[in-house]
Amino acid sequence: MTESRYFTKLQRVTGWEKTATGILAEVDDARLAIDLLRPDTFRVEITPAHGGVDAPQYAVCADVAPMRTPFSVKEKKGRVELATDQVRVTVHLDPFRLEAHRADGSAIFETSEDGNLGSYAQLNDSFIVTRMRGEDDVILGLGEKTGRLNRAGRHMTLWNVDVLNPSARREIGACDCAGGPSNDPRSTEYDPYYISIPFYQTVDEKGNAAGFFVDNLCRAEYDFATEGETRILFYGGRYVEYFFAGPRLENVLEAYTALTGRMGTPPLWSLGYHHCRWHPYSQEDVLKHAKTYRKKGIPCDSIWLDIDHMNGYRVFTWNPKLLPEPAKMLSSLTKLGFRSVTIIDPGVKVEPGYSVYDSGLAKNAFCRTEGGAVYQGQVWPGKTAFPDFASAVAREWWGELNAKHIQFGLAGIWNDMNEPATGDIPASAMRFDGGKYSHGMYHNGYAMLMAMGTAEGLKKALPNQRPFVLSRAGSAGIQRYAANWLGDNMSRWEHLAMSLPMSLGLGLSGQPFIGADIGGFGENSSPELLVRWMQVATLTPFCRNHNDAGNVDQYPWSFGAKTEAACHAAIDLRYRLMPYLYTTFVESATTGLPIMRPLLMEDLSLSEVDDEYLLGSSLLVAPILAPKVRARSVVLPSGEWIDWWTGARCEGSVWSQAPLDRIPLFARAGSVVPMWTEAPPSTMGYHPEVVELRVFVPSVDGEWVSSLVEDDGESFAFERGERLTTTIRVVRKGKKLSVVGSTVGGVYAGFARKAFRLVFRGADLADVVVEAGVDGFEWSGTA
Ligand code: GLC
Repeated sequence: MTESRYFTKLQRVTGWEKTATGILAEVDDARLAIDLLRPDTFRVEITPAHGGVDAPQYAVCADVAPMRTPFSVKEKKGRVELATDQVRVTVHLDPFRLEAHRADGSAIFETSEDGNLGSYAQLNDSFIVTRMRGEDDVILGLGEKTGRLNRAGRHMTLWNVDVLNPSARREIGACDCAGGPSNDPRSTEYDPYYISIPFYQTVDEKGNAAGFFVDNLCRAEYDFATEGETRILFYGGRYVEYFFAGPRLENVLEAYTALTGRMGTPPLWSLGYHHCRWHPYSQEDVLKHAKTYRKKGIPCDSIWLDIDHMNGYRVFTWNPKLLPEPAKMLSSLTKLGFRSVTIIDPGVKVEPGYSVYDSGLAKNAFCRTEGGAVYQGQVWPGKTAFPDFASAVAREWWGELNAKHIQFGLAGIWNDMNEPATGDIPASAMRFDGGKYSHGMYHNGYAMLMAMGTAEGLKKALPNQRPFVLSRAGSAGIQRYAANWLGDNMSRWEHLAMSLPMSLGLGLSGQPFIGADIGGFGENSSPELLVRWMQVATLTPFCRNHNDAGNVDQYPWSFGAKTEAACHAAIDLRYRLMPYLYTTFVESATTGLPIMRPLLMEDLSLSEVDDEYLLGSSLLVAPILAPKVRARSVVLPSGEWIDWWTGARCEGSVWSQAPLDRIPLFARAGSVVPMWTEAPPSTMGYHPEVVELRVFVPSVDGEWVSSLVEDDGESFAFERGERLTTTIRVVRKGKKLSVVGSTVGGVYAGFARKAFRLVFRGADLADVVVEAGVDGFEWSGTA
């Protein structure tokens, strides 16, 4: 971090006036604007006298300008107070500092009266924001971060990095002034990673949550290590921060994603199991793999093609030697029930005569240097030009290229190296928007803008097909356009363990669609690691097996019958749970809630549990994360839980058996988990006549609500009403248990369900009288 002693703090408010949405004030020679946008959301902007760089930011997609909420402003002794019915923002005039509280008096944040840096201090184009931090505050968010889910005590950098790139590593290692572990990218504490999101949350010791989002794509440092104080340093751009009052994490996430957008409902196939590998596969190899899945009856929805599918790593081309008939191969895959995805890197081979390079030049769509040259970096094809995604023209051109490419018979696009990774050539000379902006202004936003161009291009060309993009890097708002995977992990147990808090942290940063490469990408996997990884990953949002070129194979069948059977069972379970998963995705697309949720969302005393999580609202997963472990202790949030495998009632802390073919899994008593009655080979064309409703019978009185969402899983017909939502209410009163469902909405093309099958688990049914039924559909029950 640049030494803070050189920064100058803003000292004094010299005048202020009320505006339609808040106040405008002069603080020394800077301008301060505070706007109350919703009862629970406000924004603070500070514009220095020199103006600062005003580059468009793309994270916020909501139309903020017309947002209004009733508020009052009062000047009291030495301070101005703005209040909605949920928050009170205090501006102390001399010395200047900011604070905010909820209506009940609890702090959203407070500032110290004698801090050296005040609330805000500046140096050249950098600024530091300082506020107090409670000793026991839990700190969450900031995107893709290694280490514990609770970021308290750490100092973190926001700068998207191709973690395994030696030059990036040298640069990061050299700046690791906090003395952190950033010289070893394989370290489970390495920082920064591929995705940087300047949105964090605090949860105080009473459980009050608040959220803080700086809308700025520049490199930043978040210091939660200095005692009692949080320091946020941005190396450029403007200070525009949104504050969310909570008081629950759910409220904070709803408010944050109301601004930065939510994941669109993904196509159902993207929730399936994905087969991927970096390897020079021929089309015969690809089809052989596809057929192996079908022969063995292991469900799989898609086959992914890595960089060798291209002709000399030229994006949007096909390798004539390995894949001479791509359209034919893709259509054979479709016939077998597979979708296909290819990788598309941003780097375009610099080669006059190559149509993508030529058209990029003709459209002036590549990034330029300060001197006006087309910036050249080094990626797979050697010298590469980089699309200037900060320009709308470049995004549109890229969208059209993707749309054309996908019509070959692909279902999705996989974006990699979009930090952007420039190999041995420093990225710093790459400027944006026709050379107007320095590299730092958009470095962190590059992947998001690439995904924006891609997804919008796909949607324009195929308006009734839900687009699917997977991205390695990202920034605030990436959830609107792409899912993320965790990049190049290693086949190590500690990397499996690390993937949990990492995914949970991303979920709390607004990105719910996440997953790690199953089996590990780098290094050799082992049979046991593959099984344990498969068991977890089949219970995470994005589920893809991916492996580096030089390693041993790690397909479900690569390590013999025992490993295959365990992997097969894990994938089967995912497919059986598909209706539950899909319903959870739809919920997340509507509310902004993560799909993988930390236990602290249920119970703050479990804030340090990094090795368990909730999958949606009904399931709790407690994976095995070390070799030779065949049982583990599991802590359960308050209430009654039912062991998925044994049906035993559990509460508090339990010892759970985990033979190699079983992952500890629990369902909340009272919940109903919708399931397919079998695991189909693929989601393609699968419209079952019977859906199982697995009722987890509570032993105590109460009422629980679960749901099931069904639509065609492919198109936007659901926006026109072709979606069924079934709400299932479970009520237990003494010996009476009622399970009653009602369905609203319209059926979709292909809908075939005729009946629900109720399956009861949990409390002894012998002494319960069950009344059950779902409106308009037949049902049958089995205890
Ligand atoms: C990067 C990606 C990895 C991919 C490889 C080759 O390392 O992260 O997933 O397989 O490039 O394209």
